[in-house]
Amino acid sequence: MAGTTKVNSRTSSRSRTTNSRSSSASSRSSSRGRNEEQSKFHNLFLDELKDIYWAEKHLVKALPKMQKAATSEELAAAIEEHTVVTKEHVSRLEQIFEMLGVRAMGKKCEAMEGLIAEGQTVIEDTDEDTAVRDAGLIIAAQKIEHYEIASYGSLCALATKMGQNEIASLLEQTLNEEKETDQQLTEIAETSINEEAATE
Ligand SMILES: [Fe+2]
Repeated sequence: MAGTTKVNSRTSSRSRTTNSRSSSASSRSSSRGRNEEQSKFHNLFLDELKDIYWAEKHLVKALPKMQKAATSEELAAAIEEHTVVTKEHVSRLEQIFEMLGVRAMGKKCEAMEGLIAEGQTVIEDTDEDTAVRDAGLIIAAQKIEHYEIASYGSLCALATKMGQNEIASLLEQTLNEEKETDQQLTEIAETSINEEAATE
């Protein structure tokens, strides 16, 4: 959300510059300037949308590997449930692309690729059937969730700013589901796994 604030404040300072520059220009060029600003803002929104679309699709493929590596049945079930939810997030994003009249297209998200690679490293660096591995998997999964929470929070703010309330509401739905998953993972870690891992 902090990133969004920055984007918004930068955009508004740029609009101020545009407005002060156009005060001596004709009203036609002033309105053209505003449209350009809107289009840059719109493009930023689309770029971020493509980023999270790529990330979610990549995650659908990565989550089953994390599920398989988990020792705790509770953790494996939570990851399985989130795989189903993640597929819904992909469909919701496709719905948003359709509402915008844009072809659904991903743009490689380096951050998600790195976060998923970290999850893989946890699996490689820990022993099978251990709570330590589960604790590591939860850390990796929560890092992923936090990236998604930041992305959807920002996208939601941008959509609201653009007056796209229906799209903002779809993004908010996903945002809330990511927050629920994050909370669920915290609970699993704190009620059983961390304690077991500490005594292994
Ligand atoms: Fe998601």
